[in-house]
Amino acid sequence: MSSDDRPHPAGDAVIRFDRARKEYPDGTVAVHALDLEVRQHELLVLVGASGCGKSTTLRMVNRLVEATSGRVLVEGRDVATVDPVALRRRIGYVIQDVGLFPHRTVEQNVATVPELLGWDRARTRSRVAELLELVGLAPVTYAGRYPHQLSGGERQRVGVARALAADPPVLLMDEPFGAVDPSGRRRLQQEFWRIQRELGTTVMFVTHDVDEAVRLGDRIAVFRRGGYLEQVSDAVTLLARPGTTTVAELVGAGSTVRLLSIGELTADDVRVERVSGPTVPAGGVGPGAAPSVELGDRLDVVLQALAAAPDGVPVTRGDAVVGHLTGDGLLRAVRRTVASAGS
Ligand SMILES: Nc1ncnc2c1ncn2[C@@H]1O[C@H](COP(=O)(O)OP(=O)(O)O)[C@@H](O)[C@H]1O
Ligand SMILES: [Mg+2]
Repeated sequence: MSSDDRPHPAGDAVIRFDRARKEYPDGTVAVHALDLEVRQHELLVLVGASGCGKSTTLRMVNRLVEATSGRVLVEGRDVATVDPVALRRRIGYVIQDVGLFPHRTVEQNVATVPELLGWDRARTRSRVAELLELVGLAPVTYAGRYPHQLSGGERQRVGVARALAADPPVLLMDEPFGAVDPSGRRRLQQEFWRIQRELGTTVMFVTHDVDEAVRLGDRIAVFRRGGYLEQVSDAVTLLARPGTTTVAELVGAGSTVRLLSIGELTADDVRVERVSGPTVPAGGVGPGAAPSVELGDRLDVVLQALAAAPDGVPVTRGDAVVGHLTGDGLLRAVRRTVASAGS
């Protein structure tokens, strides 16, 4: 994922785990002396098999779980010294079964924290409308509905809107799209990624799904059972250079396909056409037309287009055709993506 064009480049640590450990009363050590930072504006994903301590880690941030030893700092303050209610108003929290209030409308659900914070009605209403637009739910259609009148994906969107309503500096998400069907989940991931980049909210996101981690994460922290942190790196590095056998097994087969899903097509990969000015290829560009690709497209999308047009496809930027892409160009893009991995 390119970081050069980000509106909010990553900054200093907003969340910091400092030898944080959680041992439950029955003796289970869920998290073992964790050192980890989440930087401002960053989307950090925790990934790992079930039971390896991801949710416990997340819940230590908003004090739903108290660390047994070590410290968790949010915005520089040890959370153990902050009133939990005040803390949670600054930290959005989205879980799988989103926990919307069943007898409150969508609008009332999203307004929950602004109301607690004592915002006036006009400000709350306009903020709710703005948030519903942001998550792709037209307020005229959805504001007055109740949770049972929504699909699973729509409920998750409301959950995201509710968590973002008071513009919290930190958002915690625990398998938020886990119960949504695969194609709906892809859409939610894509839209959430766009929203996070636009708002610049610092996010800590838990999933057991490596594909989801790779699509969303600026950095990915891989956990192993017992609450051990195995590797923290960007997605390309994780896939191209897994640091331990646990990580290699987790990313396992399919890591090449996953690399395709994060690489992007750039102008360097494309043979420039001798064309003057904006040109639209025969059949036009768009749904149902002959395949074309756009600069910035993910490489898995590019691969699909090439599969349908083995001689190559036109490459567009906006309305203009800027070149022609063949299999060689795709290979160059994949090599460049892999070469960008750190060590
Ligand atoms: N309240 C609890 N009491 C005792 N053990 C727990 C509790 N919550 C979680 N655990 C245990 O802690 C470990 C980590 O759990 P969890 O953080 O939920 O993992 P993950 O989210 O990665 O699936 C697991 O072994 C789990 O059974
Ligand atoms: Mg969990």
